[in-house]
Amino acid sequence: MADTGYPWKVVWITGASGAICGEIARRLAAKGVKVAATARPSERLDALAASSPNIAAFPADVLKPDELKTCAAKVEAELGQIDLALFGAGMYVPFDIRNIDLDGFRKTMALNVDGVINGVAAVLPNMLERRAGHLAIMGSLFGYAGWPGNGSYGASKAAVINIAESLKLELRGTGVDLTLISPGFVDTPLNAAYDPKKKLFVMKKERCARKILAKLPKRPYEIAFPIQVEGFLKTVRDMPRFASFPVVRWFIKATGA
Ligand SMILES: NC(=O)c1ccc[n+]([C@@H]2O[C@H](COP(=O)([O-])OP(=O)(O)OC[C@H]3O[C@@H](n4cnc5c(N)ncnc54)[C@H](OP(=O)(O)O)[C@@H]3O)[C@@H](O)[C@H]2O)c1
Repeated sequence: MADTGYPWKVVWITGASGAICGEIARRLAAKGVKVAATARPSERLDALAASSPNIAAFPADVLKPDELKTCAAKVEAELGQIDLALFGAGMYVPFDIRNIDLDGFRKTMALNVDGVINGVAAVLPNMLERRAGHLAIMGSLFGYAGWPGNGSYGASKAAVINIAESLKLELRGTGVDLTLISPGFVDTPLNAAYDPKKKLFVMKKERCARKILAKLPKRPYEIAFPIQVEGFLKTVRDMPRFASFPVVRWFIKATGA
């Protein structure tokens, strides 16, 4: 087999019809990696699969654990063992304290949290059995600190960060690695409802995918960017709360974020 430059032959991606993971799928496929692309059935998913002979569509709903397990088994039967599983299905809803969108909150928690753990449960037993594999989970820097308007999305990503930490601790010595991917703002349909003036250091999906793929083969625990947003939110998280709340309020006033 030709050298793809990547350490994976078969990559399974959920949220593959979306902006960031679609871009990752196309870049991997262009190098000869076999990509199993999962999202709910749609023309977008079909178009992605049609864009490269190395991308095959494996439609499934990440909210349905049995369907996802069957999907992962199908990928392994048709393409070979999954070397890297990237869990990228996700959504954002605005959070308005005067009119909390409870349905949106529940849907966000379900997709961003259950959708990840359903995927992990579908592939991890096989990876543990063969003592090899790589899990990559799409988190967000906004999981590190509470932020106005982010009560749903931030809560879901905070849960994802905790899941990633818990798994990472237990995976030691198993041969299976885990990477948490924590971008800041990326210009995609996911955050179309977010006030554009408040999206600081926003980047294009192409740059985001490039940054992820530059580091993912080294199997780090976390890939986080941009550094300004990472530095600020992680610092705020580590500060005592009597200090962090005024700092966040000052920052928002000063930058309009
Ligand atoms: N955009 C950002 O600023 C940003 C920043 C940090 C982290 N992230 C994270 O990166 C990931 C990708 O974000 P994105 O901006 O590329 O999002 P996106 O373009 O909106 O894509 C979302 C993906 O999730 C899939 N999906 C939704 N519901 C699903 C379900 N029930 N079953 C299977 N797939 C489902 C969608 O496919 P279908 O609807 O076709 O099924 C689509 O492929 C998300 O986890 C997001 O939280 C994004």
